[in-house]
Amino acid sequence: MIKKCLFPAAGYGTRFLPATKAMPKEVLPVLDKPLIQYGVEEAMAAGMHNIAVITGRGKRAIEDHFDISYELEHQISGTSKEGLLRDIRRIIDTCTFSYTRQIEMRGLGHAILTGETLIGREPFGVILADDLCVGESQGVMAQMLEIYEKYRCSVVAIEEVAPEEVHKYGVIDGRQLDDGIYMVNAMVEKPGREEAPSNLAVIGRYVLTPDIFDILRRTEPGKNGELQITDALQTQARENMVLAYRFKGRRFDCGSVDGFVEATNYFYRQRCGAEDCDP
Ligand code: G1P
Repeated sequence: MIKKCLFPAAGYGTRFLPATKAMPKEVLPVLDKPLIQYGVEEAMAAGMHNIAVITGRGKRAIEDHFDISYELEHQISGTSKEGLLRDIRRIIDTCTFSYTRQIEMRGLGHAILTGETLIGREPFGVILADDLCVGESQGVMAQMLEIYEKYRCSVVAIEEVAPEEVHKYGVIDGRQLDDGIYMVNAMVEKPGREEAPSNLAVIGRYVLTPDIFDILRRTEPGKNGELQITDALQTQARENMVLAYRFKGRRFDCGSVDGFVEATNYFYRQRCGAEDCDP
C-alpha cells in the first residue's frame, strides 16, 4: 500500500494575481473549501495518510490550515458553526503533514526532487492541487492505486484534450494495453499542436516509483529551462515502464479562471442537489 502523497505547492500562482499576491493559490476556496483540501481528501480516500507538501516563501497559510486553531475552535464550540470544521478536523486527526521548502522555482521535476527527503525510497502519489478532480465512483488517486497495485510501475493520469490545448500539458504517445490503460512510449512537455504525439494530456495526478528521484537527478533542464517531470518519466518509460491511465471522472483546471469558475458552479450545483451533476 502507498501511504505517502506529495503536494508540490511552491508555485507563485501568477495567473491568479492579484488574489495570490499575499495568499497561496492552494488555499483559494472553491465554495468554502481550499483547493488543497480537496486534494488531501482525495489522497485520504486512497488510503494515503502521510501528506508531504513542498512549500515556498509566503505559503504559511497552508501549514496553518492543516493545524488546530485553538482560539477559533474555542470560540465556536457549542454553536451551530462547530460542524463547519468537522471535515478539516477529521483530516488533521487522520493524517500527518510534513513540509519542506523549495528555495528556487526550477520546475515541477525540481519540486518533486525536493520532496525526496520527505518521501524516501518508496512509491508515492503526487497531486497538483490546482487540478481539482471528481472521480466517478471512487477518487482519481484511488483509481490510479489500483493500476499501480496490478502493474507496479509509475502511472500518470491522462485525459483527452482539444488539439489547440495540448501546448499546456505533458502529452503522451502510448499503446493501449487494456481499457483506458496505455503503455507510454514517449512523453513531451507542452508540445506545439504539430509536434504533439496525441491529444492525451497528463493531468496533475501521478503515482511514482522512487527510482524517479535518481532519474530526475540526471535529467537536464527541458522546456522553459525547467526540470520537467515529463522528461524524467520519458526516461523511465524507456528504461523500465510507465503507464498512462484515462481516469473515470472529471477534472477542473483550477489554475485558470475559467476552470475555477466551472468548478465553483459544479460544486455549487451539487450542493444544491441539482440533477446535472454527474462527473
Ligand atoms: C504541469 C506538468 C504538465 C502537466 C500539468 C497538469 O504543468 O508540467 O506536464 O500536464 O502540470 O496540470 P503546469 O500546469 O504546472 O504548467
